[in-house]
Amino acid sequence: MTAKKIQVGILGGGGILAAHAPGFNKIKDLCTVIVVAESNPARDEAIRQFFGPEVRIVRDYREVLAMKDVDAVDIILPHHLHLPATVAAAKAGKHVLVEKVMGRNVWECDRMIAACEKAGVNLTVCHDRRYNGEWMALKSIVDSGVLGDIFFWKLDHNQDVVMPPAHWAHWKDGIGGGCIMSCLTHQIDGLRWYGGEVDSVTCLSVVRPERMQGEFAGIVAAKMKSGALAELSINWWTRSHYGDNCLWYEMVQVCGTRGEAYRMSGKGTFVRLHTADDAALQQYGPAVKDGFVQVESGAWGGHERCIAEWIKCLRGEPSKIETSGRTCRGTVEVAEAAYHSMDKGRTIQLPIKPRRWKSIGMPESLGGIAAPQQKYHIDMGREKKS
Ligand SMILES: NC(=O)c1ccc[n+]([C@@H]2O[C@H](COP(=O)([O-])OP(=O)(O)OC[C@H]3O[C@@H](n4cnc5c(N)ncnc54)[C@H](O)[C@@H]3O)[C@@H](O)[C@H]2O)c1
Repeated sequence: MTAKKIQVGILGGGGILAAHAPGFNKIKDLCTVIVVAESNPARDEAIRQFFGPEVRIVRDYREVLAMKDVDAVDIILPHHLHLPATVAAAKAGKHVLVEKVMGRNVWECDRMIAACEKAGVNLTVCHDRRYNGEWMALKSIVDSGVLGDIFFWKLDHNQDVVMPPAHWAHWKDGIGGGCIMSCLTHQIDGLRWYGGEVDSVTCLSVVRPERMQGEFAGIVAAKMKSGALAELSINWWTRSHYGDNCLWYEMVQVCGTRGEAYRMSGKGTFVRLHTADDAALQQYGPAVKDGFVQVESGAWGGHERCIAEWIKCLRGEPSKIETSGRTCRGTVEVAEAAYHSMDKGRTIQLPIKPRRWKSIGMPESLGGIAAPQQKYHIDMGREKKS
């Protein structure tokens, strides 16, 4: 018997649809995107260009959840909607793929996991780096043990991003804090995937309100449970990776007692051993320079591969999901612990206690609470406005 073709609804049709749509279109024999929920009609043309004139477009994600012919939803909404959309999707019996970052804190992640487990639906997080060929190539080096005892990690993320007040990501309530929760979670997730769990974190950050309400740059120092050190940083005010002779957008470096490896955007993945052990390195790829070997990696993009694995899993076919909700909760926990470190001015030991998101306000037009001065108190798990 051939497996069922999965009928997909996409919730949100903004910028990241450009990375998701090719993923679904690449596996049209396995699934069909039948509807996209997007509240902004200015996006209709782009949505039709991705999926053709026959795709249905509705204005609110809840309309998709009411559709009986939708089996699964891909949530690419603003971060503050990941929790309500996932819980509502689970209650409607739909499988869920949710873009990173999974939720604004672990309290939200826990509710997303519980709702999906209770409903018996799949919850996968689209942390695309775990499915990217070059990131996977680095993982194969680390897992092979060829680097010896790993003692140091360095991961960074560089972009030039300004979030105006008209955008949800300007607001702490929308994005879940600032750039650390939004995008350093790529590096945190990669670190956990490569190097295991984090033991403790210390964090510093910088805020410029004209760029966004939360931090636009930050540094996280982490101690791994393995004993290794990790240095993670994000800078959302740099163009150092633009143009020729540039630096990089993202970089991962790992050093062990027998060798080192790195992955750099635009360049690839490379490995070098302290002992010139050519035989041990030849298996990975061609020698480049000064003892480094370029590791061969697949051509698939991370979003495309993640979507393909998720669809295969829903069809009951062999699949390799690296990013279940339970797995990715830990990534949000590290970022949340980094915020606690900033607030308290000290190192924070994991695990942390889940706490409900404390709203400080965001414009109502963006789906937030109207008055920025309005405070929320948490009283025995119930929200009370003051
Ligand atoms: N993996 C990556 O590299 C990467 C890059 C960019 C964004 N993202 C993630 O993708 C997600 C979306 O980000 P984006 O950049 O596409 O944001 P975006 O603002 O461009 O898109 C979000 C869309 O949701 C729509 N929307 C809001 N409320 C809605 C509702 N109730 N019903 C229907 N539509 C609604 C908005 O109109 C908007 O078009 C986020 O989780 C973000 O972190 C990931």
